[in-house]
Amino acid sequence: MSAQRQEAVRRVTVPQITARKGGEPIVSLTAYTAPMAEILDDHCDVLLVGDSVGMVVHGLPNTVGVTLEMMIMHGQAVMRGARKALVVVDMPFGSYEAGPQQAFENAARVLKETGAQAVKVEAGPTIAETIDYLVKRGIPVMGHVGLRPQAVNVDGAFRAKGRTEAERDRVLAEAEASADAGAFSIVIEGVAEDLAREITAAVHVPTIGIGASAGCDGQILVTEDMLGMFDWTPKFVRRYADLRGDIGRSVGRWADDVRARRFPAEAETYFSKKAVEG
Ligand code: KIV
Repeated sequence: MSAQRQEAVRRVTVPQITARKGGEPIVSLTAYTAPMAEILDDHCDVLLVGDSVGMVVHGLPNTVGVTLEMMIMHGQAVMRGARKALVVVDMPFGSYEAGPQQAFENAARVLKETGAQAVKVEAGPTIAETIDYLVKRGIPVMGHVGLRPQAVNVDGAFRAKGRTEAERDRVLAEAEASADAGAFSIVIEGVAEDLAREITAAVHVPTIGIGASAGCDGQILVTEDMLGMFDWTPKFVRRYADLRGDIGRSVGRWADDVRARRFPAEAETYFSKKAVEG
């Protein structure tokens, strides 16, 4: 375990991310813990405390069961690890859909209790009103269109969006409405390249894609996916490591050493002064 770092905190700001529209690609990953945030912070502009934490860390089947308390606890952990990146916390299912007032109360709690700079909400037909209400009251909002994991029970499964004309029009309209309402950037998840490019051209704020092609202003992935923590990864993920294999092999070697009484050896053992001198 490492002690907390002492360097000065100077974070990327919300206006700096908005100013990246059409410029240098925005680099973003999910983070849920302090040590991972500390590692990712050197490489990322934005760290998202995604509600994917429910599936990645807590073993839930989807994100619907994630609570505000879980998001706040993981947000606090990430804020202890990150020093530079903009930290955005996902509003979980049930914490903002009832209306702008509910969204404000819960989003204000997230910012106050974590110190994060912004929240993310998944789009829906009424999201523009909520985004407008939050932004006007000092809460920066990242939008999220396309595949909306929190709508899994309506959709029946996680599936790419924008395959029919009607669905394309709806996703594009939600992105435009989110941007016009004041979202400082928009995550586009699980849509075909042509739709991602159309949205990116249509909105004045940066788009950050996940499974949405190179046609976005930035990219985000679930960190554990790109590090190979799971047996299966979606088509849009490129694996840069095999953590699952590395952990399994390492733990296997340690277990063999314990069973063969090779661990701990002298180097890993404390001795009393008496035993050392005598
Ligand atoms: O929760 C999450 O990790 C997300 C990303 C997939 C963008 O929303």
